[in-house]
Amino acid sequence: MVTVRAPGKVILYGEHAVVYGEPALAMAVNKYIYVTAKARDDNKVSINARDLRLAGISVTIHENGDIVARTDYGAVISALSYVKRAVELAMEYFNKKVGIDLMIRSEMPVGAGLGTSAAVAVATILAYVKELGYDVDKRELARLAWQVERDVQGSASPTDTTMATFGGIMYIKPEGNSTAMEPVKPGVTIPLIIGYTPRVSTTKDLVAMVRRKYESMRDVIEPIIRSIGVITRKGREALEKGDLELMGVLMNINHGLLDALGVSTKQLNEMVYVARYAGALGSKLTGAGGGGCMIALTNKSEVEKAIELTGGSVLKAGLDTDGTVVISND
Ligand code: MEV
Repeated sequence: MVTVRAPGKVILYGEHAVVYGEPALAMAVNKYIYVTAKARDDNKVSINARDLRLAGISVTIHENGDIVARTDYGAVISALSYVKRAVELAMEYFNKKVGIDLMIRSEMPVGAGLGTSAAVAVATILAYVKELGYDVDKRELARLAWQVERDVQGSASPTDTTMATFGGIMYIKPEGNSTAMEPVKPGVTIPLIIGYTPRVSTTKDLVAMVRRKYESMRDVIEPIIRSIGVITRKGREALEKGDLELMGVLMNINHGLLDALGVSTKQLNEMVYVARYAGALGSKLTGAGGGGCMIALTNKSEVEKAIELTGGSVLKAGLDTDGTVVISND
């Protein structure tokens, strides 16, 4: 029996624009998805996602891929599609179909913009591989998990899967089918508060919505995407120099541009604005938007309180430097 964990992430700058080839700057956080894998004697794949926050369920996927037990909770079903695809790809990659029991647990709200689906994909593949007694190089693991996200979502950048695999702070630049990633050494500890509000849209729908705008008004949307790219490059420089003031200003501009793309919500905007008024150096939504998470560049307790007063929840998280790791192998 093997247990693996993979971290969530926040995007400091660059979400959505990264889908169009611009860089993103992301930080892995010390909140984890845990996957325990145990080989079975038959060829069934059983997924117990009881701890995926939303519902107590146990779902069995037959060899032909059919889900035989269902739940009404859309988010659970969508989390399960990542697990299912991750297992299929791992089976294909090693050309070995071994039945497996998977137990999945999350320390983060699922589908909230913290990269839980990527962490689920990474941890599921690694747990399956290790339980079968194989090894997988981290680059290969990140590539397979990115494939899972693309297959399930239709379109995805390698940002979330790279962070769940490698951890740390990364400057990520998609280059066609591969990913240029550079670990970033911060010149300062990043003071960060994460605010959370329930999600009203999925990443898949939001990425598709931005794509429709891009196709129908390219002359308007393209400059916004390129501007976000410039912000990300400047944000990286500011982080390396330890210039928190500049980082905050750039976060605020980045949020304005994401709002212009239509991916923010009233509740997210409220959290973003109260955080600034309560003393954060900067704040923005993080991840795909449509509800979900925002980050504030601060560690002031007033900012936490202000976020909670809008009805949002606060999640305290620091930097994860390890990426995915096996935490037990009996
Ligand atoms: C999601 O965490 C970030 C997006 O840019 C989508 C992606 O990069 O695949 C919105």
